Amino acid sequence: KTPVIIDCDPGHDDAMALLLALASPELEVVAVTTVAGNQTLEKVTANAIRVLDVAGARDIPVAAGAGRPLVHDTARVADEVHGETGLDGPDLPPPSREPEAIHAVELMARELRKRPLTLIPVGPLTNIALLIAMYPELVENIEDIIVMGGAIGLGNVTPSAEFNVWVDPEAAKRVFESDADVTMIGLDVTHRAMLSAERAEALRETGRAGAVVADLHAFYRRFHLEVYGHDDTPVHDALAVAHAIDPSILHTTQLSVEIDVTHGPARGRTVVDQLRRTDRPANAHVAVDVDAERFIDLLTTRIGSLA
Ligand code: BDR
Ligand code: CA
Repeated sequence: KTPVIIDCDPGHDDAMALLLALASPELEVVAVTTVAGNQTLEKVTANAIRVLDVAGARDIPVAAGAGRPLVHDTARVADEVHGETGLDGPDLPPPSREPEAIHAVELMARELRKRPLTLIPVGPLTNIALLIAMYPELVENIEDIIVMGGAIGLGNVTPSAEFNVWVDPEAAKRVFESDADVTMIGLDVTHRAMLSAERAEALRETGRAGAVVADLHAFYRRFHLEVYGHDDTPVHDALAVAHAIDPSILHTTQLSVEIDVTHGPARGRTVVDQLRRTDRPANAHVAVDVDAERFIDLLTTRIGSLA
């Protein structure tokens, strides 16, 4: 089993990513940490616990982390995509417990001191940047940082930038410039591996988790219909988890990725040197292709197998 910590901001696709991880025997979810992103820290933390509750995962520690980006002074939420609660759609009961009385970064550090781990950040990179800044000696215990974020050629918040990197570009810079192994799973691949309304609806009869995912998709697809003109939705964050389960779903290439932290139109852009126009050494495994069918099969079969 690969031990992982999922750092998230649930979020519809974050919720699906968590359920996929919990349903997968290849992974041991050591902890779940949260960061302000799709909604406020308080809301996404409650949502993370509510999603774990759906799968009956009451023993996995959950800790809240950063409530705002490192430098930018306000947290910016994505309520037009994820709604007022951050997880609009399903009727979920209130969280069964409080988060741990420990900061997300401390929880990650505590677990990393015990053994090497894979980190799967699927929200803004604030917590991971803080971890690297506070505990540089633990970087050697990070097996891989599988980031859902960035893009080679797309933007979903601005024409240049993907949401997770755009919310906290300074944090992303710190992570991509660290000595850790970084894998970047960006919009280029997540937009080529969409979940259709039919596949999501088919989950409704499989059990509680499947019904929740069907409800999540029914809300989440509204935004995509409006913006993209179809109701197939990218399940960005679940693709990062799928990569930890089965690395053959994605094809990655080692490339140099620089984060634009300027305040112009490209702020938050992941500048990927695909044609190797600079001497900058490769600092990330960048996902360039995806086997969409295998990913969607894995996602739906695994979530459908949860009670
Ligand atoms: C990312 O932004 C968030 O809204 C999603 O949860 C995902 O992590 C996609 O750009
Ligand atoms: Ca997310």
